[in-house]
Amino acid sequence: MQNPIKQFQGTIKKGAVLLAAISLSASVSVAQAQNAAPDMQKLQQMMGQQISLMKPELQEKVKALSPQTKKLLLQIYGQHTRHSDKVTLRQVMHEVLSDYHSMVTGVLTDNAEQAADSARRLANHRIPIGGLVPYLDIKFVNDEGLSALAGFNDAVEGNAKRLAAAADEGDMIKASALVGDITQGCFSCHSIFRGVPGKSALLR
Ligand code: HEC
Repeated sequence: MQNPIKQFQGTIKKGAVLLAAISLSASVSVAQAQNAAPDMQKLQQMMGQQISLMKPELQEKVKALSPQTKKLLLQIYGQHTRHSDKVTLRQVMHEVLSDYHSMVTGVLTDNAEQAADSARRLANHRIPIGGLVPYLDIKFVNDEGLSALAGFNDAVEGNAKRLAAAADEGDMIKASALVGDITQGCFSCHSIFRGVPGKSALLR
């Protein structure tokens, strides 16, 4: 199967119109869509839909992002085949945690098949309604804030795919080492973008 990212990068190199698409009306013109590879069309439409769901103050911030940052967001979205029109990032995170548990169970019970399947499911987690951006503090919705996403994406999803490949090869030592790298990716992203879950505003 053709790698959607490669396909996507190829499309960018060809000078396709993708930045026009996120930059930013919610609609994608027919001419643009015809120039783009099928996956790009879908991605552009999806991104346009996401933007149309955002409140004006967030739309403004997204429109102000550099072409590079918009490309990064599309690259991340392009790695996911499941896009929900209902679930929130918190719900996605709980599902990610379930896959993470299952992946670790596979590693700890020497079940390479469970480890590989769960790691791939984790790497292809659902994208929540509106994309990732609406769930981040708006102070991070700028080029500098969002640039951190590239590293976290590789730490979690890149390493989850590497873990799956190692498990496929029966290399459970390598798979077990990658659990640490993935966990560090979860932790690092939370330390910037999340904070402590469920903090009470009624405590001093
Ligand atoms: C791209 C950054 C990022 C990465 C990587 C990431 N998370 Fe999260 N996570 C968040 C954000 C942002 C929230 C807060 C979402 C909210 O409250 O709307 C969150 C929240 C959570 C929560 C708490 C949900 C709740 O109900 O408060 C859990 C559990 C969680 N993540 C698990 C994980 C696991 C497990 C991984 C790694 C496999 C991971 N996350 C990787 C950004 C990330």
